[in-house]
Amino acid sequence: MMIRRPSDVLPSEITPKDVYFNRRHFIAGAAALGVAGAAPFGAGAAPLSAAKSPLSTDEKLTSKQDVTSYNNFYEFGVDKADPAANAGTLKTKPWTVRVDGLVAKPAEYQLEDFIKPSTLEERIYRMRCVEGWSMVIPWIGFPLADVIKRAEPQSGAKYVSFETLYRPEEMRGQNGLLPVLDWPYVEGLRMDEAMHPLTILAVGLYGETLPNQNGAPIRLVVPWKYGFKGIKSITRISFTDKEPETSWNKQASNEYGFYANVNPGVDHPRWSQATERRIGEGGLFAKRRETRLFNGYADQVASLYAGMDLRKFY
Ligand code: MTE
Repeated sequence: MMIRRPSDVLPSEITPKDVYFNRRHFIAGAAALGVAGAAPFGAGAAPLSAAKSPLSTDEKLTSKQDVTSYNNFYEFGVDKADPAANAGTLKTKPWTVRVDGLVAKPAEYQLEDFIKPSTLEERIYRMRCVEGWSMVIPWIGFPLADVIKRAEPQSGAKYVSFETLYRPEEMRGQNGLLPVLDWPYVEGLRMDEAMHPLTILAVGLYGETLPNQNGAPIRLVVPWKYGFKGIKSITRISFTDKEPETSWNKQASNEYGFYANVNPGVDHPRWSQATERRIGEGGLFAKRRETRLFNGYADQVASLYAGMDLRKFY
């Protein structure tokens, strides 16, 4: 291979950033039209730009380094650094998403047909993990409601369930060496939660398609719930009349409920949920922040739970 020094590259050979981004936009558009080989999704990190949504917070972003190296993705190991180290083995192209259950239009989509680039937005959300830390992440995604409307749920459909792929050859944590969770990872939402405008399917972060460790090529993001509801690398979305099983609830039902709404007033049985550590903020002695009800999104979502005992439905 011929290696050129930077001084050998003519200025005319360097693509200006805005042209490059527009080109990627065009490519994403072409992918939506089904042009073979043009899809940026699932092919490793590729630039992906989108206009910022007014539903974004203006809080300081957590660094890209922290967002992509401090992760939970048990299919690749239980330590925070494991997903970044091990998730490279996951093949995300081609990728299919099955939509089924109580819907008029069940379908199996190729990812390129599932995502409509024109609907992508940047959503900067506060994220709060049940373990007591938080981040602010610039996601790129689209409302889950779009997918639901397209599927035309039947009147009996009261919940939406989600499933991550099961592929032990590519996900070393599924090999039974670490029996932490039942595979595949599953999650669920009530229909009104799933339809809420804050609920998105994310396909990117920080202006690029999702890195594998963050749930490539497509994952759920629900900013008023603890992070574990944000199921990664989704291959199936089903509509049901019964509350679906969820991975962490199956593992320890007294610790992790179906709702998992961020709530400083309801402690985890083994630790308080009153405060949180913002990742990247100060060192060991940084002051913890007060955790807010529904992670600060109460104005938008509290009405979904009117009349419910949040101690019982945790
Ligand atoms: N999805 C799958 N498939 N497997 C997992 O282990 N971990 C969850 C959630 N989604 C997990 C998952 C947990 S516990 C958290 S806190 C978030 O992903 C972390 O998302 P992040 O690493 O992108 O911050």
